[in-house]
Amino acid sequence: MCTFVAVFLQKAKKTKMKHTLFSIIMLTVSVLLPATAAAEVLPLLQNVNAYEQTSLNGEWNYIVDVQEEGYYDYRMNPTPWGFFLNAKPQRPEDLIEYDFDKAPVMQIPSDWNTQDERLFFYEGTVWFKRSFQAVPMQDYRTLLYFGAVNYDCRVWVNGKEAGRHVGGFTPFNFDISDLLVEGENVVIVKVDNKRHKGDVPTQIFDWWNYGGITRDVMLVKTTKVYLEDYSAALRRGEGRKDGKRTIDFSARLNTPEAGHKVTVRIPELKLESTFTTDSEGKVGGTLKVSAKKLTLWSPENPKRYQVLLSLDTATYSDSIGFRTIETRGKQILLNGEPVFLRGISIHEEKPNGGGRANSTDDARTLLTWAKELGCNYVRLAHYPHNEYMVREAERMGIMVWSEIPVYWTIDWTNDDTYANARQQLHDMIARDHNRANIIIWSIANETPHSAERDSFLGRLARYARSQDSTRLISMAMEVTSAANYVNRLQDNMHELVDVVSFNQYVGWYRDVNDAPKMRWEIPYDKPVIISEFGGGAKYGYHGAKNQRWTEEFQENLYRENLAMIDKIEGLAGTSPWILKDFRSPRRVLNGVQDYYNRKGVVSDRGEKKKAFYVLKEWYQTKENKKK
Ligand code: GCU
Repeated sequence: MCTFVAVFLQKAKKTKMKHTLFSIIMLTVSVLLPATAAAEVLPLLQNVNAYEQTSLNGEWNYIVDVQEEGYYDYRMNPTPWGFFLNAKPQRPEDLIEYDFDKAPVMQIPSDWNTQDERLFFYEGTVWFKRSFQAVPMQDYRTLLYFGAVNYDCRVWVNGKEAGRHVGGFTPFNFDISDLLVEGENVVIVKVDNKRHKGDVPTQIFDWWNYGGITRDVMLVKTTKVYLEDYSAALRRGEGRKDGKRTIDFSARLNTPEAGHKVTVRIPELKLESTFTTDSEGKVGGTLKVSAKKLTLWSPENPKRYQVLLSLDTATYSDSIGFRTIETRGKQILLNGEPVFLRGISIHEEKPNGGGRANSTDDARTLLTWAKELGCNYVRLAHYPHNEYMVREAERMGIMVWSEIPVYWTIDWTNDDTYANARQQLHDMIARDHNRANIIIWSIANETPHSAERDSFLGRLARYARSQDSTRLISMAMEVTSAANYVNRLQDNMHELVDVVSFNQYVGWYRDVNDAPKMRWEIPYDKPVIISEFGGGAKYGYHGAKNQRWTEEFQENLYRENLAMIDKIEGLAGTSPWILKDFRSPRRVLNGVQDYYNRKGVVSDRGEKKKAFYVLKEWYQTKENKKK
């Protein structure tokens, strides 16, 4: 930028010359500056791990910007001179009031709340900067991929905006090929996790609002034309007795080009088929395999096959399990057989106060506790967890309920809110639709009844089914009435879900010690899942079983609840609330909660509470019954 303009602008800015003049100049400057193509926000890339990657994890500089000084001018208009320029003083008198390279660093991926104690309660904007080496490539694209950023994030590469993403728990990627320069490049990310009524989740939720770049960041190298998405799923309605089973295969290029050869191979099954893309850049077809040869994915045998996909010269590898999941009356059928979901709910949080979980090790720690409980199923609440968690569960033989954070009282009539929820639902399914262990997509949790809510959720349920007809749709409903110990569930959404799931807190939020008296009326011919029940206990705090917060109180509550729910007709599974104590700003009881929801059957340090063993024993009986 020529010195004259810079000097003039600083003066203009400093002396607060009429704002209009300033913006006119800005307009002129933006016209004068060589226009570079804005980066594209792309549909999500399927199976990013199949591509050549450059990790951008590691140390990033960060600047805490409470009043978004780096984005707005003093009139609260977006400024073209924001921190995204990573500007440096050119001459001694130049005034630049930020410098990323002098700013502290934070390990990314992580949340800022557990990385900088000043930010423990912080909700607002933090800027992140990272430099990286790159070479613009003629025949390839470079995508910038984020596993997740909470909540509202804007990204710039070399001062040019790459794009924006809203939503804290799903991945997104930008094509930054045209923004790269040879040598040192700079990516700057503005992250804002402030809560708003129209957001998803909305203003209040019972988990810590961990902010930041919470999952992996990477540069992904793709060919100009690449496989944007593909799906390989075992067809329902065919049994072992049928000689052949059908795998439905489909794929889509990132561009509507006909004539490209897509080959899918499953070497272990000696299966290979080649398809040619149509004018929309799509292929679809079937692979037939003898039923005897095919090992179905199940918790007992979480078999995955290496699946090789090639497009023209490029080859991608994935490991996919094949199974069917469906319902028959009040039963859930896995591979045609009734299955009982021995579950537990989990938040995406490292043990030992470590903040957001985001690695195979974190996943293995949490899932191993679930396995010790006797689980074959987990409810990943209340938002899509990181891909490590889902893939590790698939490897360990654990079925998954995956959910979007349409939680409590969402702004039902707000179109932006609906679009946001729908996008999160789309991306949740887009990332994980090839994971055999995901059996249920959940579209909501504990939402108040109204026509607006029904319309909102109805559209989401239909959309989910349009995106994936091979899995079950559900949501966590609430007990509608409980007069005289008769608990009723009446919910219009029962028509649109495959499994009727609800949360109930007999013994904690209501009817302490009345579980034995409870009756349940669930007038739907569908499987029932108790998606939550439970109570709090501080690990190591012991006393009478009617003394709140003692392990004995929680132990007794579990005993009574398990006996109670065992009588519910059509009970097909449960996911008690919750595996591990987790942080929540809503839990402020000093000396007991200390900003932790204490309903874990395991403490935050992994110490097993008495209730853990009650649940473990109950699951053992369920498993024995099956044999
Ligand atoms: C609700 C909610 C959870 C919450 C739990 C509790 O049911 O779904 O997110 O943490 O109750 O009150 O502990």
